Parts: sequence; structure tokens; C-alpha cells
Amino acid sequence: MGKIHWKPGTVLYPVPVVMVSCGDMAGQKDIVTVAWTGTVNTAPPMTYISLRPSRYSYDIIKKSGEFAINLVSKKLAFACDYCGVKSGREIDKFQKMHLTAVKGEKISAPIIYQSPVNIECRVKDILPLGTHDMFLAEVVHVSVTDTYLDERGKFHFDKTNPVCYAHGSYYTLSKALGGFGYSVKKKKKHKK
Ligand SMILES: Cc1cc2nc3c(=O)[nH]c(=O)nc-3n(C[C@H](O)[C@H](O)[C@H](O)COP(=O)(O)O)c2cc1C
Repeated sequence: MGKIHWKPGTVLYPVPVVMVSCGDMAGQKDIVTVAWTGTVNTAPPMTYISLRPSRYSYDIIKKSGEFAINLVSKKLAFACDYCGVKSGREIDKFQKMHLTAVKGEKISAPIIYQSPVNIECRVKDILPLGTHDMFLAEVVHVSVTDTYLDERGKFHFDKTNPVCYAHGSYYTLSKALGGFGYSVKKKKKHKK
């Protein structure tokens, strides 16, 4: 086994792919597909999205200081791709993809009702990085679809069929390999 050396690049995979909704219910609203996103702090809960300034959604988010991250289920994969290749300058993506815009609980921006998890965010800082500007944001509210809760109120994220992205393709998750800390967990002794 040997190693070959590549030039520096955005090689990390898989990454999340999300649908970011922005704007307001009355006027201009948009959905932009984003792969450059992630969690960056636990308390307060902080996240980020990186956007090219040329995006229609960029100016909307910069002006309003708000957006929602809507997680993508298998059912939403087609709409997610569409929202990543068409601009809100030319088309209303909510209407075209039959997605329902509902005002966020804590933000004026719409969330996507069909998404299993909606993460409402308020921008704290904008960092120009080069090609993209990073919108560092605090999570101010989360809503989840109740059909994925069991009778004890536990949310089964695997039932939502989450979608991730790796080098140009969308994937669903496969089977779980183990739980947090399984590597150090004592094995149960079986009675003979
Ligand atoms: C899978 C995927 C991931 C994307 N990730 C990003 C991203 O992280 N940042 C970004 O600025 N654009 C990203 N894009 C491109 C935008 O979603 C795309 O240019 C979109 O049409 C912009 O919409 P808007 O002009 O309505 O804002 C991605 C597109 C796809 C298909």
C-alpha cells in the first residue's frame, strides 16, 4: 500500500446537504441548496453556511440576518437538487417544487414544512473566506415532524431517510455500525 499526493482541495466526504430557506412570507423568499454547512458549537448551538456572494439567496440572508436549515429526506432529494441548480432570480422554487412555506417560530423567514427537521438560525457574523462567505449563526429554534416520534417522544432520525452528499452524488445512510462509545462498552456475558 502506498500514498499518492493531491493538491489541496475540498476533499472531505461525506458532507451534509441541506435546503436553506430565507426571505419572508410576504415578499421575496428563496431556497438554496448548501453542502458547506455544519455544527460548530454546542452551547449556544451554533452552525454555519457558506455562500457565494453571487447567489440570489446571499443578499436576502445578508439583509435579513436570518435563515432556516431544512434537512433533506430521500423524498426531498429531487427538490434539493433542483434548488441547487436553479436560481430564485428566475423562479419561485417553493411553488415549482410544491414545497410549503410556513413562517418560522422565531424568525420571519419561512421553513419548508415537508422537511423532517427545520433549524431556525440568526446570523452572528459574516466571514469572507475567498470564493464563499461564511454565515456563522446561532440556532434559535428547531421543529421536527411528529410522525418520526415514537410513543415515548424519541425522534427516529433514521426513519426520515436522511440524505448526504459526496463528490457530486447524493446518498442515503446505510446501517448503523454501533452507538457512541461502543468501542469501549463491555460486552454482555451470555449465560451458558
Ligand atoms: C449539492 C449542491 C450543493 C451546493 N452547495 C452550495 C454551497 O455550499 N454554497 C453555495 O453558495 N452554493 C451551493 N450550491 C449551489 C447553489 O445551491 C445554486 O447556485 C443555487 O442555484 C443558488 O440559488 P439562488 O440563486 O436562488 O440563491 C450547491 C448546489 C448543489 C446542487
